Amino acid sequence: MKSFLFTIMQLTSEKRRTMSASVFSCFVTLLVFGFSSLASAETHHLHWEVSYMFDSPDCQEKLVMAINGQFPGPTIHAKAGDTMVVELKNSLPTEGVVIHWHGIKQIGTPWADGTALISQCPIKPDETFVYKFQADKAGTYFYHGHYGMQRAAGLYGLLIVDVKEGEKEKFKYDGEINMLLSDWYHQDIYTQMVGLSSKPFRWIGEPQSLLINGVGQFNCSLATNQGINKCNMENMQCAPVVFQVLPNKTYRLRIISTTSLSSLNLAIGNHKMTIVEADGNYAEPFTVDDMDIYSGESYSALITTNQHVSSNHWISVGVRGRQPKTPPALAVLSYLNNSQSQLELLKTTPPTTPLWNDYTHSKSFSYKILAAKGTPKPPKRADRLIQLLNTQNRIDGFIKWSLNNVSMVLPSTPYLGSLRYSLKGAFDQKKPRDWFGANYNVMKPPINPNTTTGSNLYEIKFNSTVDIIIQNANALAENVSEIHPWHLHGHDFWVLGYGEGLFRKKDISRFNVENAPLRNTAVIFPYGWTAIRFVADNPGVWAFHCHIEPHLHMGMGVVLAEGVDLVKEIPKDAISCGKTANMLMNNHG
Ligand code: C2O
Ligand code: CU
Repeated sequence: MKSFLFTIMQLTSEKRRTMSASVFSCFVTLLVFGFSSLASAETHHLHWEVSYMFDSPDCQEKLVMAINGQFPGPTIHAKAGDTMVVELKNSLPTEGVVIHWHGIKQIGTPWADGTALISQCPIKPDETFVYKFQADKAGTYFYHGHYGMQRAAGLYGLLIVDVKEGEKEKFKYDGEINMLLSDWYHQDIYTQMVGLSSKPFRWIGEPQSLLINGVGQFNCSLATNQGINKCNMENMQCAPVVFQVLPNKTYRLRIISTTSLSSLNLAIGNHKMTIVEADGNYAEPFTVDDMDIYSGESYSALITTNQHVSSNHWISVGVRGRQPKTPPALAVLSYLNNSQSQLELLKTTPPTTPLWNDYTHSKSFSYKILAAKGTPKPPKRADRLIQLLNTQNRIDGFIKWSLNNVSMVLPSTPYLGSLRYSLKGAFDQKKPRDWFGANYNVMKPPINPNTTTGSNLYEIKFNSTVDIIIQNANALAENVSEIHPWHLHGHDFWVLGYGEGLFRKKDISRFNVENAPLRNTAVIFPYGWTAIRFVADNPGVWAFHCHIEPHLHMGMGVVLAEGVDLVKEIPKDAISCGKTANMLMNNHG
């Protein structure tokens, strides 16, 4: 046990070191660029190098994708209106890479969205690509790889945008704690990807560990009440992260999930949480004992440190919506100078998260999220209704996910370039359907599970208002319907409502147009639907997809294009592949 105590201390100081390092680099940025800008908006120059390295997030040594030798990648701190310039060097030996800035709208810079083969070409090994974009709005965001399954290899980090100088948040707090949640597989992503596209299909299974800020405890059953002996906490790498707090303060917890597969629930022993932000938008505050978070979502929760100030408290994170085969992740909320030893804490039971299949509990959490007063309201009605039926299908024995019976495959030329420069034959021209099968029985496996793959896209009239109904259904196996968190690039959308079974036009009358929350990710529950509305006012080509990495890999997404003729000249580095590369050669060769 002694070593556990020791390791907690070590880890805390380790984290401090990285913290002060990032404070230092911010300071340098300020020195160099702060003086040159007249307004309060700053430009942050970052030099990043992506490479593989050995690391042991849960005490098992594996390869991870690191940025500047760090996993998770460095935390970015910016203010609303600041310009980010990230020079990204690809030092992976033999594969391309891109980074997506999840939650950033990329207004005027659609080529910096970091979606491989949608907004840009993959950056080749040894090459550098410059992401230049504005942090448009204060909020809790993150960044991650968006090529193949690179996010699941550990390519992610936090992007925190504070309010502009002189502006105030809607709520008060004394300190901030960041919790980047992820799940971790011991199998490498190549084995996972090949398995998913093999016949017979090889499912990736459940993750081996859940990570909080990149740290997890493999094979630790502490949080499942089976005693502490099974936990390997000897190694400082995987001792629970300790968040030190002062008594009688209010802390803003920024909680972000970038899991590959798992939906999560987070609870803090003896502390209630008040949710105040969701995906970079203010939420009408509400208080809960535990909260759900799906991949692609972010929240801010306020906690008050006025509970048993002489102790430590467990923070536990467990799996929702799938039969958990992964032990909960643990962290410690530690009151400064408390008298409880870590040893005593170890004798106490971490809060147990709700039953994995208690969907009523999950729904009640999602339904509570409403827009704070002052949030822009959605337009009263939409110009177009797209109903996207989510089905699991077969193509000659391969297993896919499809939307309106098309399983997404990306073309070899990024859409943004081929559309902007009207290149012929760069992707499937057939228009995808706005609906599939009015009589489809969402409660049963598909009668005809056959589907097709396609690279076609939805062309959306610029400035029009679009409703999308994300319609869940039964998967291939009887009595299986899964949770899917859908994420839209380039926009926030209003979540107008949720329903059970098949969406009917008459459900439109039930839409919440009064205080619908603005989000960039919305979940669909088993056998249900979720309605979202957005205004297509951001010229570019945007992905809309399930944020579960293996599902996306199996085709669970669509691509939307709007106002592409209004896109300014695309930096050549973004489109020097496929048919756009030939175009650039012919024009300038
Ligand atoms: Cu965070 Cu397209 O994803
Ligand atoms: Cu999914």
